Amino acid sequence: MHTDTFLSHLQIDPDKIRPDDWEVDWNNAPYPFKIYQDRPKIALSHEIPLSFQKKTGNLSLDKLGCFLWCVFGITKVVYATYPAHIDDIPHTATMYRRFVPSGGALYPNELYLYIKLNDIPPGIYHYDAAHHSLVLLREGNYDAYLANALGNRCDISDCFATIFVSIFFWKNFFKYHNFAYRLQGLDSGVVIGQLLEVAKQTSFDTTIYYQFLDEQINHLLGLSTEKESIYAVIPMASSLSIQSDTFTEDKITEVPVISHNYHMKSKKLIPYPDLQRIHLQSIQQEIKAFPSIQRTKPIFQTKKQITPLPPCRSHLPPFLETCRSRVSPGADFTKKTVTLEQLSTLLHTVRDATSHSNDLSEHADHPFYHLTIAGYLYEVEEVSNGLYCYNPANHSLQLIQEGDFRFYFQQSMTHQHINLFQVPICLHILGDPLLGTEYLGTRAYRIRQMETGILVQRLLLAASSIGFGGHPLLGYNTKMIDQLYQIQDQKETTLIQIPIGPFHLRGKIEANIHN
Ligand SMILES: Cc1cc2nc3c(=O)[nH]c(=O)nc-3n(C[C@H](O)[C@H](O)[C@H](O)COP(=O)(O)O)c2cc1C
Repeated sequence: MHTDTFLSHLQIDPDKIRPDDWEVDWNNAPYPFKIYQDRPKIALSHEIPLSFQKKTGNLSLDKLGCFLWCVFGITKVVYATYPAHIDDIPHTATMYRRFVPSGGALYPNELYLYIKLNDIPPGIYHYDAAHHSLVLLREGNYDAYLANALGNRCDISDCFATIFVSIFFWKNFFKYHNFAYRLQGLDSGVVIGQLLEVAKQTSFDTTIYYQFLDEQINHLLGLSTEKESIYAVIPMASSLSIQSDTFTEDKITEVPVISHNYHMKSKKLIPYPDLQRIHLQSIQQEIKAFPSIQRTKPIFQTKKQITPLPPCRSHLPPFLETCRSRVSPGADFTKKTVTLEQLSTLLHTVRDATSHSNDLSEHADHPFYHLTIAGYLYEVEEVSNGLYCYNPANHSLQLIQEGDFRFYFQQSMTHQHINLFQVPICLHILGDPLLGTEYLGTRAYRIRQMETGILVQRLLLAASSIGFGGHPLLGYNTKMIDQLYQIQDQKETTLIQIPIGPFHLRGKIEANIHN
């Protein structure tokens, strides 16, 4: 299948890229974490503070441990009961949860680090989420090698740590087949979004590099590009800036091959040729300079009613409390009227959180990085029920169409496991999934998914900070939603749906870890 067709189906008609008779072999399911064997391990501290302290001096191993746990550690054990008809999941299950959501709770990402701290040998480490420890994969100083793989656009010698966000393709392919490719980009973005928020709490400077020499980075980490590959590289320092003018690729010193044993539980891996082909098409052999990617025009240019949003709540709970209470409520949304102040706080918090720097030079011109937030509002005080678009520039709502759209959205869902009649705010992130393809080729698609995921995590944290739950969802009929927004003939489409509102958790026993 041609790449454009594959990516279009992935967004609009995912059933066309999944075999009709695809059956999930749960007995062959991998762990949601990778466990390296026979490698030196450094246990990280389990002392997690109740709140973050702003930067005081250099990063210590204890602070790094806390950082990693908050980004991607296992934070909760959940004992849940599910109706049998959903995805053939067993009736009861014990599951591990993190501060980030993940499609099907499969967490296809892994985190690797290049660390230069006083407390441990410099080198390349894997974050073992299952044991909250660091596993040494390769000892040594790789400043020059890494800087080169980033096109010499970052002074790695100034960075005490560089984080690599990988995708282990099988971790969610075993369930979602080719649809996994869309989830993998989004899941990576969600993890990056959480990482950026945690870095902000600790006042460390970060920049996302989406452009790098994939094979060179995978080689350094000992990854086999077809099984697991890095999607983003995020250096951390007290202060960072992208050196955008220097795209030189010096000749680098060779580093030897490493290949370490790890355990994932699956006995066999079913091949994934389509996903692999798209992935291999998106890897970079060189790093190019290109002009800032511009969005052509706003999606909605309606002249209908504009509702300015009032001042928002000034006191929000501490960040870690917000992370602890984040959950995808599923069937547990409960109908309550939402105040305009709550809605305003939700959107304002997202808007304020949305500034990060990436290597695409596109941060200056649009607060949501070429993405748009729209959705239906139902029984929000002082706002007529209807479809709205959020304008972050003046913190206002723009009416698209008045009415009660809950039935339409409920009908558009592929599984009826969430009752949208209980949900007062159902948001969509809209955007062009192929924006930037002219410069970045197929890689633009996964970058756009990651940018969407970052915004998803910000929305979820903002919802959690006002006591609401937000449930990211891809199980909806995209054509129906795009038609409602009247964007079916545009490049933009509905990238993800997030019902948000009050909830009351039932039918689950949860145990927070470190609490
Ligand atoms: C990108 C993405 C897509 C998701 N899609 C769905 C979906 O289609 N249906 C659904 O019920 N949940 C979906 N979820 C929610 C996950 O199932 C949920 O995050 C996971 O079970 C972990 O639970 P938690 O969010 O409460 O920690 C999605 C999550 C993410 C990050």
